[in-house]
Amino acid sequence: MKKITIKDIARMAEVSPTTVSLVLNKKPSRISEEKKELIYKLAKQYGYTPNLNARGLVSNKTNMIGLIIPDIENPFFASLAKVIEEEVDKRGQSLILLNTNDSYEKDISGLRLLNMRGVDAFLIVFSNEAYSHEKELKELLAELNKPFVLLDRTFDTINCNQVIFDNHKGQMLATEFLVDKGFKNIGYIAAPEHSLNGEKRLMGYLDVMKRNNFPTNLFVYGNYRFDSGYELVEELVKKDIDSLVIANDVMAYGALKKLNELGIMVPDDISVIGYDDLIYSSMSLTSLSTVRQDQSHLGRIGVELLYKNIREKTHIEKIILEPELIIRKSIKEK
Ligand code: RIB
Repeated sequence: MKKITIKDIARMAEVSPTTVSLVLNKKPSRISEEKKELIYKLAKQYGYTPNLNARGLVSNKTNMIGLIIPDIENPFFASLAKVIEEEVDKRGQSLILLNTNDSYEKDISGLRLLNMRGVDAFLIVFSNEAYSHEKELKELLAELNKPFVLLDRTFDTINCNQVIFDNHKGQMLATEFLVDKGFKNIGYIAAPEHSLNGEKRLMGYLDVMKRNNFPTNLFVYGNYRFDSGYELVEELVKKDIDSLVIANDVMAYGALKKLNELGIMVPDDISVIGYDDLIYSSMSLTSLSTVRQDQSHLGRIGVELLYKNIREKTHIEKIILEPELIIRKSIKEK
């Protein structure tokens, strides 16, 4: 059966297609109440459903928001996407989610694809590779000319709407806590070398080690994924560390698995603090101490800022959220 269109309804109601579109989109019009009722009746009678792309052409809005995340397997981003979808849904809109697998090329293709799909605005967590392509990405964001908010990962030189955590403070909190507990040979599995969050966390760790005249060569660069925590921790164990801070919980899970295989007990032999406070960190057998980056809070504040920018096109704001140290069973009581 042929799908009924706005033109069909217009012909039956003896009005223009624009009038039908205004009435069905509940926009102001000079048409009589009698004709309005006839248009609603015909739309219902013939099962008219709007073509969203066509609606976007008329109202210049599709009621869709695009979200780009770098690693959907990491619960940090999965939890973030979940709360963003809930917040966008509360506002009567839909979310289109794209995962880039931490690829710069997919940052680019994803932004272009979402723009072609006509999303009204963007929420973006860039890939770690983006830090090697900052200029191109900033040019693309300007070219898209739509409201956007950078979440969690930003560039030091960009003036845009963004919501991030204080990465330097977060890693300082974890490292200082271990120093206060009497640990000295504190190892560190860092985030990827060319990521801004990673650089700031590494500085937070090194500032504490330097301030206490502790070794500053007890760190290695990870890749935020399970395998690097698993493979790298043994190198630090060989340097006789007495404790360990790690730049995210997923790498911490990998490190804990390897320490277990090596017969090294946590916390009795080595105390461990991760970063993110993923949903699994409180569930593990030796519950993981960590630095909480509240994903729900990040998502809610990010969506609020995006809709503020949709309402006020010139609104620019940088919001820095506070990390929180969460102590659980992975630290030895000295
Ligand atoms: O676990 C993934 C990491 O990358 C998190 O620490 C978050 O800050 C993101 O940037």
